[in-house]
Amino acid sequence: MPLREIANYYCSHNGLFRVIPQKIKERRNSQIKPRILIPSSEIEAGVSRLATDIRRDYLGVNLLVISILKGSFIFTADLIRRLDLPLEVHFVQLSSYGRRMESAGKVQLMQPLNCPVKGRHILVIEDIVDTGKTVSFIMEYLKREQPASLKLCALLDKPSRRVVPVTIDYLGFTVPDKFIVGYGIDWDEKFRYLPDICALEDEG
Ligand code: IMP
Ligand code: MG
Repeated sequence: MPLREIANYYCSHNGLFRVIPQKIKERRNSQIKPRILIPSSEIEAGVSRLATDIRRDYLGVNLLVISILKGSFIFTADLIRRLDLPLEVHFVQLSSYGRRMESAGKVQLMQPLNCPVKGRHILVIEDIVDTGKTVSFIMEYLKREQPASLKLCALLDKPSRRVVPVTIDYLGFTVPDKFIVGYGIDWDEKFRYLPDICALEDEG
């Protein structure tokens, strides 16, 4: 199975009920290797740049950061420590159901959001904007709760695969149409621990 198909399969099954077929299981250990796309030094510089921009825009504001699990956890931890703002941070986990499940691209909150949003200044933090379905779901959901302001910060943008238009207020890096892992981002729960942002390369 070509790597692109594996990646597409994974993308459409990155929710609660993901199933990895035997063929992918066989391939994933030996023949698929991560190749560094953005080294940790560049990530650090990018996160610092984002923090400078965000800090400038939110000075004097009581900020509520909403981070999308799991992929954003390292990015969020690094970013908020550089912001030097008196913020609160909450986490949400979303599940998506791909083409081969019931409804195409349907995204749901796995637990209700347990913090008040009305009248708050909210910054959503996401790891990758791919088709745009995940972030557009959470942005629409939060908008209905009437925040004072609502913006999006994404570490990575993969614009070539966009289906739903998304405005990214603060963007780290644009990446090509490759399957990304590392710096918190996984493939089947693997590679999150890598310090660099990598692309999976097919060596088979
Ligand atoms: P979207 O809803 O298609 O924009 O997908 C967003 C989510 O899919 C991200 O939060 C990631 O969890 C996952 N995703 C998209 N592209 C990749 C990738 O290249 N590597 C790992 N996860 C990805
Ligand atoms: Mg994610």
